[in-house]
Amino acid sequence: MEDAAVQSEGRSGGIVINDGWPGYSLDLFSYPAHYSGDLDCVFIPHGVITDRTERLARNIMDDLGDHDIVVLCVLKGGYQFCVDLVDRIKALSRNSNRTIPMRVHFIRLKSYLNDQSTEDLHILGAEDLSFLAGKNVLIVEAIVGTGKTMETLLKHVEAFRPKMIKVAGLLVKRVPHNTACLPDYVGFEIPDRFVVGYALDYNEYFRDLDHICVISENGKMKYKIEKE
Ligand code: HPA
Ligand code: MG
Repeated sequence: MEDAAVQSEGRSGGIVINDGWPGYSLDLFSYPAHYSGDLDCVFIPHGVITDRTERLARNIMDDLGDHDIVVLCVLKGGYQFCVDLVDRIKALSRNSNRTIPMRVHFIRLKSYLNDQSTEDLHILGAEDLSFLAGKNVLIVEAIVGTGKTMETLLKHVEAFRPKMIKVAGLLVKRVPHNTACLPDYVGFEIPDRFVVGYALDYNEYFRDLDHICVISENGKMKYKIEKE
């Protein structure tokens, strides 16, 4: 099917959502009333995210299941994906008699103002990661755009000499200047549109929305911050 909105698997290994995908009408789902008028469509329903996360957890278990893991959760956007992914890994580990000791550490990256990436990337909570030396590290990110942020973070983490680094990214965006840097585990490959929900924000709004949605022009205006 040439025009199918969703293909099974792309270069990234994630579920491909094509550029023409219009999303689902908001009327077909529940979402917080305080966001009515602020969204264009439901792009990825929460249930689909959950099911995909379950499969990613299994892939991660298959690859890393015999080792301890240090999970590096990239805040703030990655918190929901990280919680759900770690939960699924724990459940699989309980049910398979292969219990995996997991530690979870949080770091914070910030580079966006409104829907634009800014040049100054801040990495917080990552000053001393020396406890990563010799460990298997799983970096958990919500979204990878150009891949620049991921590259910077990988360099930073590599300097602490972990045994192995894997990256799980829920979303990979098809942007014009993608670097070669892709996560090892990808949930979905999406068009270059600004999405919110499932902990992804627009100026700190929409983290309390379960589905991944496309923000409307009205929503962008309403929550816009003027640059000083
Ligand atoms: N939504 C929210 N945060 C983001 C996005 C996005 O589409 N891209 C990069 N950070
Ligand atoms: Mg953000």
